[in-house]
Amino acid sequence: MTLSIPHGGKLVNRINESYDFSHITKEVPLDDFALSDLALIANGAFSPLTGFLGKEDYETVVNEMRLSDGTVWSIPITLPVTEEKAGQLTVGEEIKLTFNGIVYGVLQLEEIYVPNKTVEAANVYQTTDLAHPGVKKLLDRPNVYIAGPITLVKRVKYDRFQEFYLDPTETREQFASLGWKKVVGFQTRNPVHRAHEYIQKSALEIVDGLFLNPLVGETKSDDIPADVRMESYQVLLENYYPKNRVFLAVFPAAMRYAGPREAIFHAMVRKNYGCTHFIVGRDHAGVGDYYGTYDAQLIFNNFTAEELGITPLFFEHSFYCKKCGNMASTKTCPHGKEDRVILSGTKVREMLKNGEVPPPEFSRKEVVEVLIKGLSGKVPSLSK
Ligand code: ADX
Repeated sequence: MTLSIPHGGKLVNRINESYDFSHITKEVPLDDFALSDLALIANGAFSPLTGFLGKEDYETVVNEMRLSDGTVWSIPITLPVTEEKAGQLTVGEEIKLTFNGIVYGVLQLEEIYVPNKTVEAANVYQTTDLAHPGVKKLLDRPNVYIAGPITLVKRVKYDRFQEFYLDPTETREQFASLGWKKVVGFQTRNPVHRAHEYIQKSALEIVDGLFLNPLVGETKSDDIPADVRMESYQVLLENYYPKNRVFLAVFPAAMRYAGPREAIFHAMVRKNYGCTHFIVGRDHAGVGDYYGTYDAQLIFNNFTAEELGITPLFFEHSFYCKKCGNMASTKTCPHGKEDRVILSGTKVREMLKNGEVPPPEFSRKEVVEVLIKGLSGKVPSLSK
């Protein structure tokens, strides 16, 4: 057995820093969201995508969770522009993709189309409620999509933690050099608390290595900023994980909060990074009460093991049980709710911001220290 085969058969590489774009006159400015999508298409994390989705692929993704050739793909990766901007562009031409005035990419414009965002929201997010952060983002972004293959002409550089930004080719090399054949991927937009640690370590008992792959792209403003989380992951790994069994690198994508559909997407991407297994716990990528606790697990039943190409590992809601004196789930613990230490994400964020210490049954003390220090005096903000 070897590392996973990339989604669609081979890793896409659309990076060419010597690409000559001096002849291109038109440009489209990207937001944070689109810049991260551009970089992840280019480095192969979004294989088999080679660009922003055209209308046919967009519609099959929205309606059937597949690209038009049948490949599993559950989240539309699109490039929205204003009507005014779209009016200045001509199909067939090349366009510079810029961020803060710097050219990062080139798009070969193949299509300009107007999506039905109500259908997109209803299918992808299962709601059209503007209170849903993913739906709000979708509707806030401009209303015309432009599509075509891209080339990344400049790598995105980050102020901090640059060494944790690895391409799928690089994570695969790392896993191979560690001698790992079975690698479990873990997605999170949160600090790693005891329940996360419990399911990671349960998985580690049956695979060779854990790929801790926190999402650090755009998140909603009350999530804990990525730079604070990065410190917390490192201190946790130093103190509680064997060094040669876990590898930390970031997933610089925007969070969609699309629950079940995003779980499929997250799994496909981790397959591209080389994972053979992927953890899906309770309410994966969920927000509020939009999704059932285990919907993100049930959605995997829509696909065959072969078309997924990565094995999902499902975990029940986990917690510390005072009577058992250990971490457990309803699968392993017979005791009642009153014996369980369960805190909602919102409650914990509130505690941390107020400098209150969540109990050690909930979070490791070293992690809590980093979080309290990192959040003190800091207005939580979107952070790269
Ligand atoms: S998210 O990116 O999926 O939104 P989150 O940090 O909430 O991040 O969860 C990371 C992973 O851990 C997900 O697979 C989620 O289902 C799982 N998870 C989080 N908390 C628990 C818990 N208490 N019990 C079981 N699984 C959990």
